Amino acid sequence: MSILRVSNVGYSYEDGTVALSGVSLSLEEGDKVAIVGPNGAGKSTLLHLISGFRAPFTGEVDVCGRTLDRHTADLVRKDLGIVFQDPDDQLFMPTVEEDVAFGPRNLGLDDVEGRVSRALESAGIGQLAKRRPHRLSYGMKKRVAIAGILAMDPKILLLDEPTSGLDPRSRTDLIRLLKDMDRTMLIATHDLEAAAEIVDRAMVLKTEVVMEGTMRELVMATDVIERSGLEIPPVSKLFKVLGALGYPVGALPVSMDQAVAQITTMMDSEGRALHTHIHGHEGGSKPHAHRPGREGRDSEKG
Ligand SMILES: Nc1ncnc2c1ncn2[C@@H]1O[C@H](COP(=O)(O)OP(=O)(O)OP(=O)(O)O)[C@@H](O)[C@H]1O
Ligand SMILES: [Mg+2]
Repeated sequence: MSILRVSNVGYSYEDGTVALSGVSLSLEEGDKVAIVGPNGAGKSTLLHLISGFRAPFTGEVDVCGRTLDRHTADLVRKDLGIVFQDPDDQLFMPTVEEDVAFGPRNLGLDDVEGRVSRALESAGIGQLAKRRPHRLSYGMKKRVAIAGILAMDPKILLLDEPTSGLDPRSRTDLIRLLKDMDRTMLIATHDLEAAAEIVDRAMVLKTEVVMEGTMRELVMATDVIERSGLEIPPVSKLFKVLGALGYPVGALPVSMDQAVAQITTMMDSEGRALHTHIHGHEGGSKPHAHRPGREGRDSEKG
């Protein structure tokens, strides 16, 4: 059974702007899914709507088997935690630790202190506990907002641009945290490389769902991505150029980790092919793997 199901959802703002049209998606427990799309694609609108903050809409949203409407919105919000795109929409208590404690306390959860210290630790901001949220930098606020949601331990995590404004180290730490977290997640992001590290599949949203697939499938459909107003990551572009120059690059990597794995495999298999070829000329001892540099010296010998 789906833990989150969005069926044929449409939403228009009061001024007539159509933000979402015919959007459907379904997450099983433990699924991690990204929503990618350009500015104004409707990503934030969709996350707000799923969290019960936007109504009325057409279509249906079911969270943990409960259909979202104005009677169930409060209950539904107990099952999901949303990290807003703008941390200023989320932070309002006088200190960071009080802010992070607010959610769990409000839900009547046990061990609030333990939850707060673990959440601050996970977000790497233990040292900020006594600071005033509104005096923090944007990236620090973002991490406080994330800690506030982690402290509630919701069944479903909705994250709106979680990596925006984070410095590279904090971004890497957050990616690792989300990747290792055994939790159902829906992440709206422009950061395709981060998404590639964290999620199993993604959908391209531009008012409607344009495409769905793994991040690699999305990036391979470069024309669809570009027509939707997105760009493939630099590392994918590099491999695309190498492919056009005749190098056997195979599928386009989306992240640096994928690229490194792919290059290593290419180097290994080229080395092996070359080695087998050389020994074939020499009268065929059993092929075994060598570093490519070593093969070069072998071939001079032979
Ligand atoms: N309060 C509002 N009133 C009217 N239109 C709105 C309002 N909020 C958003 N919109 C419009 O709804 C559409 C979707 O906006 P939304 O913020 O959901 O996009 P997004 O994909 O989250 O964009 P971004 O990448 O910039 O965060 C846009 O056309 C936007 O102008
Ligand atoms: Mg947004």
